[in-house]
Amino acid sequence: MTVAVLLGAPGAGKGTQAPLLAKRLGVPVLASGELLRAEAATGSDVGREVDSIMRSGELVPDQTVVRLFLDRLGRPDAERGAILDGFPRTRAQAAALDAALAEVDGRVDRALLIDVPTEDLISRFADRVICRAGGHVYNLRTNPPRVPDVCDIDGSELVRRADDAEETVRARMLQQLGPLEEVADHYRRLGILTAVDGTQSIDRVAADLVAALSSPAADSPAAAAGR
Ligand code: AP5
Ligand code: MG
Repeated sequence: MTVAVLLGAPGAGKGTQAPLLAKRLGVPVLASGELLRAEAATGSDVGREVDSIMRSGELVPDQTVVRLFLDRLGRPDAERGAILDGFPRTRAQAAALDAALAEVDGRVDRALLIDVPTEDLISRFADRVICRAGGHVYNLRTNPPRVPDVCDIDGSELVRRADDAEETVRARMLQQLGPLEEVADHYRRLGILTAVDGTQSIDRVAADLVAALSSPAADSPAAAAGR
């Protein structure tokens, strides 16, 4: 079982990189944002609450996200592992994940932080579109689909995300960068965190993430011994 957590600020490139890593490892991507958007689309009571929180730029309560995410992680296709995109986002979520994996003799093997300065992130949202079916990510300026408005991967329609309005983007940064630091710290202390420079091209970032997956974590004792 290989479990890798992708960390990064909103817009850092988690959703762009997760499918590339997943393909490489032969495991699925589990993306909390996609799970929550699917829940919101059901129109259930929980879905309506989730939708309104996501539009505000705040984090959805731990209890709701942990339940949805661990339920997804327990499905058969994730038995051999998964790339986790967007979860955990708080210390409490990280602890819940560690506990759930320990129950099946698993653990988080690697945490990969895609590092991009906040001032470089804001401009990425104005041109982002995602596909309706699978959440595959594009940028109309820097990474457009081959056919306008159609996903290269599954052919579904490309749409804007409700939380990509500039005001919501700023709220997301304000609310979420603090908790991100705490989660990164959690994995740094476990010696399994590696940061990669997310300001490079998508291909370069992917290459760095793949290299990081197959070498000791940058902050680990093994890496320190090699320095
Ligand atoms: P979520 O969907 O996870 O959003 P996010 O973390 O804000 O991150 P994004 O999806 O916006 O960015 P990304 O890092 O995936 O970047 P992307 O690859 O798309 O969560 C949404 C909301 O759900 C949260 O705000 C919260 O309310 C809630 N939520 C989710 N998980 C939660 C949890 N665990 N707990 C509580 N609440 C939770 O790339 C962005 C753009 O940049 C694209 O256009 C892309 O083409 C472009 N791009 C990517 N890489 C590059 C590059 N190297 N150079 C130039 N452009 C690039
Ligand atoms: Mg994403």
